Amino acid sequence: LENGLARTPPMGWLAWERFRCNTDCKNDPDNCISDRLFRTMTDLLISEGYAAVGYEYINVDDCWLEKERSYNGHLQPDLRRFPYGMRDLSNYVHSKGLKFGIYEDFGNYTCAGYPGIIGSLETDAYTFASWDVDYVKLDGCYSHPSEMDKGYPEFGFHLNRTGRPMIYSCSWPVYQIYSGIQPNYSSIIESCNLWRNFDDIQDSWSSLESIIDYYGNNQDTIVPNAGPGHWNDPDMLIVGNFGLSYEQSKTQMAIWAILAAPLLMSVDLRTIRPEYKAILQNRKIITVDQDPLGIQGKRIYKHKGIEIWARPITPIFQNYFSYAIAFLNRRTDGTPSDVAVTLAEMGLLAPGGYRIEDLYEDVDYGILSPQTKIKVKVNPSGVVILRADVQPSYGRVSTT
Ligand code: DGJ
Repeated sequence: LENGLARTPPMGWLAWERFRCNTDCKNDPDNCISDRLFRTMTDLLISEGYAAVGYEYINVDDCWLEKERSYNGHLQPDLRRFPYGMRDLSNYVHSKGLKFGIYEDFGNYTCAGYPGIIGSLETDAYTFASWDVDYVKLDGCYSHPSEMDKGYPEFGFHLNRTGRPMIYSCSWPVYQIYSGIQPNYSSIIESCNLWRNFDDIQDSWSSLESIIDYYGNNQDTIVPNAGPGHWNDPDMLIVGNFGLSYEQSKTQMAIWAILAAPLLMSVDLRTIRPEYKAILQNRKIITVDQDPLGIQGKRIYKHKGIEIWARPITPIFQNYFSYAIAFLNRRTDGTPSDVAVTLAEMGLLAPGGYRIEDLYEDVDYGILSPQTKIKVKVNPSGVVILRADVQPSYGRVSTT
């Protein structure tokens, strides 16, 4: 969507995967979906250094609403859990220099059974604008996927008409794929800043693997649709929760960067362990994710549990891209696997070679020619992610 927003994939925090539809503020006041939770995460995004590396949006997901609209048909938050209203919460987020996102559903109900936007598209777009919302995620439960080709653009039209720039996150393709409809990606690109293509992420390695496989197996249809202003969304980062090991967490961050994915953390920022925080705050990997070219990467090799993923990035020299390259080990035998491959075999052919750097470990390989074999050891369910910066020809080329 060309609304000037999301020129690089949006970054921020989103409640759903970690906090779900916990509405029990009486017994679980620290973890329920409430004003307090979002203010706390806003504060931590800043004090813990996430904002400084680019995380910007604080996004509410399902279960913020009152079960009924107001007497005049307006959406209203559950006032026991959001006693000051959404405008006040949004003001708080803005007062900290961050941006505020909200959730609704193109259907009769949200997935958790709260009022959806059907019949009130224009009113709800204005309500969000009046709350100074910066980001709207529109889910697709309790709706007809065949009506989404009309309905998602229509709500986008109303958002646009409010005059307030709001990122528009759509679930349109995923619900269509579930009901056997081929998504019309050219229309989705025109209407949405990002969209979900596949299943909800769950707190497990098998869920993460299934998502990685989906994007690899369907890359020819999916990858060309990504670019500045319009992104595929493989769902939230679950790094720092319960289900992923340290290696697996590094894998998610690296592959998300290759996929040019939105980086929406869904984790308890109060209790996250330092090593997971370091993964989420890895500036070198974030720089890959946020590369201004906005070209989504692909799986370029898959054999016996070893995969290589590559993403073209800046700088470019004489039509040769630089690359981020992730080596992923899907094997379960408990010892690191050796991978050895020449840069040329991965399509890196610039005659001046590439400066190669590891993005997790402090290893600088120097400048390597395309014929050089690069050797890495990849831990089980882990990654090695490298950055290969193209060098001008006639640069210093080592052939070791
Ligand atoms: C389905 C979406 O895909 C999830 O991300 C989340 O928003 C839930 N619905 C909320 O009910």
